[in-house]
This record gives sequence, structure tokens and C-alpha cells, in this order.
Amino acid sequence: MKVLVTGGAGFIGSNLIRLLLAEAPDLEITNLDELTYAGNLENLADVAGSPRYRFVHADVADAAAVARVFEAGFDGVLHLAAETHVDRSLEDAAPFLRTNVLGTQVMIEAARRHGVARFVHISTDEVYGSAPPDASFDETAAICPSSPYAASKASADLLVLSYVHTFRVPAIILRCTNNYGPYQFPEKMIPLMIANALEDRPLPVYGDGLQARDWIHVEDYCRAILAALRAGRPGQVYNVSAGRPRTNLEVIRTLLAQLGKPESLIRFVEDRPGHDRRYALDSAKFREELGWQPRRSFEEGLAATVEWNRSNAAWLERCRSGAYRSFYERHYTNRGETLAHWRTS
Ligand code: NAD
Ligand code: TYD
Repeated sequence: MKVLVTGGAGFIGSNLIRLLLAEAPDLEITNLDELTYAGNLENLADVAGSPRYRFVHADVADAAAVARVFEAGFDGVLHLAAETHVDRSLEDAAPFLRTNVLGTQVMIEAARRHGVARFVHISTDEVYGSAPPDASFDETAAICPSSPYAASKASADLLVLSYVHTFRVPAIILRCTNNYGPYQFPEKMIPLMIANALEDRPLPVYGDGLQARDWIHVEDYCRAILAALRAGRPGQVYNVSAGRPRTNLEVIRTLLAQLGKPESLIRFVEDRPGHDRRYALDSAKFREELGWQPRRSFEEGLAATVEWNRSNAAWLERCRSGAYRSFYERHYTNRGETLAHWRTS
């Protein structure tokens, strides 16, 4: 089975490709990524030599480039590429609309033209907006995004559903809660807090820190994506969650305890405008249909993530300094073309 993964150089994408290469030997993977600030080919350096992997440098919103890539023929598409950081979408929403909305339209149109058998669209819990206390949203809940990021993802979902309805494109939408784990760019809460705490620098907590998120280890989510590719029902929307929202302060205090650092590092800072108070999803549909459930407890997954960050200080340093961006220039040259994969030898 030939599978096109978009956004494979990012956090979830790189963990997904590593998992697919290790656990799905029938899959051949093409990774299409524009390598924005969030795309880091060093995330895949250990697996990029696999004969079942190749990388293509392209923009999902560039219809001509995407059309060329699709000439290779794919059985499945896992569409992850996106602008993903809420705070950045408050500074400038334009790249979010281009990549998340136009990019999704380009991808699903290409999938339609080429008769792709499965298109898994990676959406987010943020499309539902904030959940009331003690409630969790199932897939029938109204779409009510708060940030430009969430609005762009919601727009993409609606486009995908329109292609399902009108053109019978066999698309599946996954809406997952916050992920954490190795290779997460240090602008997101968990890796940012770990990095700061390791250096005894203040941990910036927005507002009162009582906003709640339902954290899922990235490996658990990648298994969910593989399950959806194999056995998801075309046309369906599935929520994926761990089922235990916890406040940011709770997460940060657990982190500090695991790191052996004092709570005096916590600094309450100005809140994020429009900050969603609580995300909570009911994932019973996905669990029952696909037989999926998370394998890692939060405490275990967080401890492993702390350890990963501790022992990958050089990766973090290269993210911060921007040095990781030279990796592409050193190993690839032809933009927009299908390239032979880079071999570690
Ligand atoms: P990320 O920001 O770490 O990576 C995004 C990747 O997409 C990068 O490799 C980047 O180079 C690539 N990209 C961006 N614009 C592109 C373009 N125009 N063309 C091609 N590639 C482009 O993101 P992530 O955290 O890995 O998230 C992946 C997907 O999962 C996104 O669709 C996101 O909305 C969704 N999601 C993420 C989370 C989370 O907690 N991280 C939770 C729910 C849903
Ligand atoms: P983030 O990782 O940006 O994910 P999202 O906004 O998509 O949920 O943030 C997770 C939570 O942590 C969110 O409630 C905002 C909060 N947060 C902070 O309190 N301080 C920070 O420096 C960051 C980046 C996030």
C-alpha cells in the first residue's frame, strides 16, 4: 500500500512515519512537507534511510506541485500538514488559511481526481470550542471554533465533508485532543515548560492556569491514525481522546515534580486572548468501532517525554538556534521534485 503523509517532518508526522515504518511493513511512505519553521527533517534522520520511505519538499497549497506528487499513485493519504500554533494564529492568520484551508482543498481535490481509496484528514478537538464543565463533546456537537487556528481547521473539516457528500471521496476525519511526546516543537506548552524548567527559567502560565486539556501521548495517537487508515469507515468523523482532562497547572506541577524542580518557577502571565477554557471529547465511537485505546498513562508518558527532552538537549538547542533548518540544504537539493531518499551512509 502506497501512502502519502503530509506534514511528516513535524511533531505528530515524524512520530507517525517512524511508527508506520516499524509496525506496518506493507506500507510505503512518501512524506510531503514544505519544511516551515515547524518542519524538521532531523526528526526522521534515524529512519530516512529506509527503502520504504522517501521525502518530497512541496507545499500542500501548491496545486501544480501536489498534482506532480500524485502521479506516483497512492492508495491512502494521511493529511497532517498544517499551521498549528494558536498563539501564532493570533499574530497572523493568513498562513493558517492558506495551508489549513486551501491546502486541504488542494489535497482532497487531488485525492478525488486520483481515486485514492482512503483519505484520513487530521483535524482537532479545537473545532468544537470550549466544553462546559463536566461535559464532553461527541461527533454530533456543533462546530464552534474560537481562534483563527481552530476556525481554519473547522473550515477544512467542512470542505472535506463536502467532498464526502458531493463526490463520495472516502475521507475520514479524526479530531484528537492535545498530543505530547518526543520531537514536539518547543513553542507548545509541554516541551516549552520542560525546556525552561531544565534551565531553571520561569514557566509562563497563561491566566490562572486552570484551563483544561486532555493530553494523549503521540504514539497512542499515531496508532489511532493507523487504525483509521486500515479500518475507519469512509465518510465518518471520529473523536480521539484519552478521556481525562487536566488543568495546565496540574500538568506543570507534575512536570516540576518529575524534574525535581521547585514550583517557584511558575510565573502567571497575561492570558491568551479568547483562550478556550476546557477541551473534552467523548471518543466512545472510535474506541468501539476501531478497538483502540491509549496504552500509556499520562504520568508514564510524561515521564518518558521529560526523559527524552533531557537526553536530547542537542535537538532542542538546534530547534532554538534554527540550526536544524540547514539539514535540508545539506541533504536535498531539488525543490518540488520526487527525490531519492537520503541514506545515512
Ligand atoms: P507541527 O506544527 O509540529 O508540524 C506541522 C508540519 O506541517 C511541519 O512539518 C510543517 O513543515 C508542515 N507544513 C506546514 N505548512 C505546510 C504546507 N503549506 N505544505 C506542506 N507542509 C506544511 O504540527 P503537529 O503538532 O504535528 O500537528 C499535525 C496535525 O495534527 C495538524 O493538522 C494539527 O492541526 C493536528 N493536531 C495536532 C495536535 C497537537 O497537539 N499537536 C492535536 C490535535 C490535532
Ligand atoms: P498549547 O500547547 O499551545 O496547545 P493548545 O493551545 O492548542 O491547547 O497550549 C496548551 C495549553 O497551555 C493552553 O491552555 C495554553 C497554555 N499555555 C500556557 O499557559 N503557557 C504557554 O507558554 C503556552 C505555550 C501554552
